[in-house]
Amino acid sequence: MRLVTAIETIGKLRDENRRAGRKVGLVPTMGALHDGHGSLVRKARAECEVVIASIFVNPLQFGPKEDFEQYPRDLEGDRAKLESWGCDVLFTTSPSAMYPNGFQTFVTPEGPLSAEFDGAVRPGHFKGVATVVLKLLNLTGCDIAYFGRKDAQQCALIRRMALDLNVPSKISVCPTAREQDGLAMSSRNVYLTPAQRAAAPNIYKALLAARARVQGGERDALQIREALARDLAAIEGGSPDYADVVDPDSFERIQQKIPGRFGAPAPALAIAVVRFGSTRLLDNLRLDEDGS
Ligand code: PAF
Repeated sequence: MRLVTAIETIGKLRDENRRAGRKVGLVPTMGALHDGHGSLVRKARAECEVVIASIFVNPLQFGPKEDFEQYPRDLEGDRAKLESWGCDVLFTTSPSAMYPNGFQTFVTPEGPLSAEFDGAVRPGHFKGVATVVLKLLNLTGCDIAYFGRKDAQQCALIRRMALDLNVPSKISVCPTAREQDGLAMSSRNVYLTPAQRAAAPNIYKALLAARARVQGGERDALQIREALARDLAAIEGGSPDYADVVDPDSFERIQQKIPGRFGAPAPALAIAVVRFGSTRLLDNLRLDEDGS
């Protein structure tokens, strides 16, 4: 696997791949890689001729009181994992190379997709995400970029950005990878104490219970939201940030009834964020279909 750290070099590689007509897949990450990232790299490997993974802990998407400094970093461990998953190129660079002196152009999403939920709890977060993702898409010239559905709002926002700004890369949203007990894989799971780790799978259980209610015929989004909020509030040591039922693409809150025809529910996503101490765990589940 080739290691690239300079912006000029990744740009040259993009131009070479373009000239050779190679299909390029990009897996953007912030490192501290786990099997969830592995499933993205493997999918890219199966679909593309060149697989690039980026590791960049993006300061722009962290608030002043957030965990930018503490965010887990393990470049050597990540390199070994990427090799074993069949990645061709690891691109990692410094904040000063990504945002050199004079940098002043940002992607600022506006509207419900960025204003609510994580957008409200983490002001500026999605501006940082959208800006760095667009830079990574431009730097690599990838045909397909792969993201995990655990960060559903991020995925919806990136898809919207690609549509709004006519970005030629396809955005591929892949299933959430889970531990055996159902906990969504996340780089932040390493922050959990043993007691918090034992309680954390109850987030997924609460989401499954929400889906079971829909499968049992419940269509009142308010009832589903309240039951989900109750289940999350009962998690030992956890404190819910929010629980809701939204449209999976627009992230607009579904009011009253989950729409649908002939008794089948229309697309609806249950979203949940629970804090264990200062660790925020996100998860979500489609209520209208099986699978994660
Ligand atoms: O999901 C992440 O790891 C980050 O938000 C991303 C997409 C790599 C942008 O920094």
